Amino acid sequence: MYMEGLPLERKTPVIPEEDIRKQKEFCADVRAMNERLPRVPLAWVDTYGCQQNEADSELIRGMLVEMGYEITDSEKGADVIVINTCAIREHAEQRVFGNIGALVHGKRKNPSQIICICGCMAQEPHVAQRIRQSYQHVDLVFGPHALWRFPEFLRRIYLRRGRVFETENSDGAIAEGLPVRRSGAIKAWVSIMYGCNNFCSYCIVPHVRGRERSREPEIILREIRELAEQGYKDITLLGQNVNSYGKDLGCDIDFPTLLEMANDIPGDFLLRFMTSHPKDATERLFDVMAKCEKVAPVIHLPFQSGNTRVLREMNRRYTREQYLEKVAALRARIPNVVLTSDVIVGFPGETTPEFEDTLSLIEQVRFDALFTFIYSPRKGTPAAEMPDPMSKEEKAANFNRLVEAQNRISLEKHQAYIGTVQHCLVDGEGDDPRNNLNARTPGNRLVHFNGDASLIGRYVDLKITDCSTWALFGELV
Ligand code: 5AD
Ligand code: SF4
Repeated sequence: MYMEGLPLERKTPVIPEEDIRKQKEFCADVRAMNERLPRVPLAWVDTYGCQQNEADSELIRGMLVEMGYEITDSEKGADVIVINTCAIREHAEQRVFGNIGALVHGKRKNPSQIICICGCMAQEPHVAQRIRQSYQHVDLVFGPHALWRFPEFLRRIYLRRGRVFETENSDGAIAEGLPVRRSGAIKAWVSIMYGCNNFCSYCIVPHVRGRERSREPEIILREIRELAEQGYKDITLLGQNVNSYGKDLGCDIDFPTLLEMANDIPGDFLLRFMTSHPKDATERLFDVMAKCEKVAPVIHLPFQSGNTRVLREMNRRYTREQYLEKVAALRARIPNVVLTSDVIVGFPGETTPEFEDTLSLIEQVRFDALFTFIYSPRKGTPAAEMPDPMSKEEKAANFNRLVEAQNRISLEKHQAYIGTVQHCLVDGEGDDPRNNLNARTPGNRLVHFNGDASLIGRYVDLKITDCSTWALFGELV
């Protein structure tokens, strides 16, 4: 039984407070050096990939601010550059390498500039090796496991001016008490767990982010409470697979229980979460979503493939039928739930008839939105060793069929909103002067409308008047 204040019998290591305190001392050292400069030094953090990386970048910015830097939004004039990288697909890695290469010109003009590479790519041995050899202008490389030691590394570079590589792999630990600089005042991320134990055969994440480990419920709930008090309206609980939350904690709080507890926190905010592995998405989770008024009626439930043989090869541990049963159980409780998903086309050995099972699954489920990817081999994963006979052209043709079908479904789903009134959170300005503001429905659909900028951060009722594949258009009622 979980009791507030009692120590947990957790299985994963927590970084001792003493070690975090030391990092804060390193922050103070760097700050003292920075205060001797004629101007406040600038730091730029560039983020690739998923929301977990966005959340990590908020910690990096927090540490940089504590070290006396001002955060800027471009490489221009930056004294420290941090590239927080993503390793999920080849394409993401190529972009990062291109951009790291381009930084050499800035460094030539300003040799005292410090360039840091962190995130998932930094945890891949072949990437660290390539940076060491071919990107001499990079000063610091550290993986997700060493994120909390960033102040120590930066200080070491200032004192010794040598390159620092901290990329040792590990199962991971939990670091609490790091400073955070949040990017927005309306929406916030709260990491509830790190790592992944699922080892889907195509995926690099478990290899670079370590084993599943949960933050303590008390700490998470305190963070949500503070965010609610500060006026945040939209709080997303993050984890590679949130449905595994708590398994390592040695207490009886699982993810649905954590959601219920978060729902009890007073305030005018919505709770979201991502990502959910279908094998662990239970009816109890759906019951809790249906019952808790602060939990948004939306779920991202990646299915990856509509074919059971391919799912088995992917090591997903559910069948097509089981996935469809989950969706039915969810919709029985929340009929208007917004359902989004991820799918991979061209997994090694997938035939076109097997791909057509993916097509038929999306026709059957009718997702509100779909994130579609062409399979990308990742070094060190089992799928990268599997025979992959299908041509690039055939994969691309299948991919295009999928995107076309989903675009039609997304448009039809959006058309059904026309004439309805949606209670939306205004979350920022858009690019189109005729519809200058952006808002989100409770299910996170984007709505463009015209209104005064003072509405940003407030809830409004919008009548939906028009739509496209990607967004809704509305007017204030
Ligand atoms: N190739 C293509 N897509 C991938 N994803 C993960 N690994 C790969 C890969 N090797 C996709 C999955 C996952 C999403 C975050 O990225 O669909 O859900
Ligand atoms: Fe990758 Fe699968 Fe873990 Fe998601 S659940 S991070 S796809 S291994």
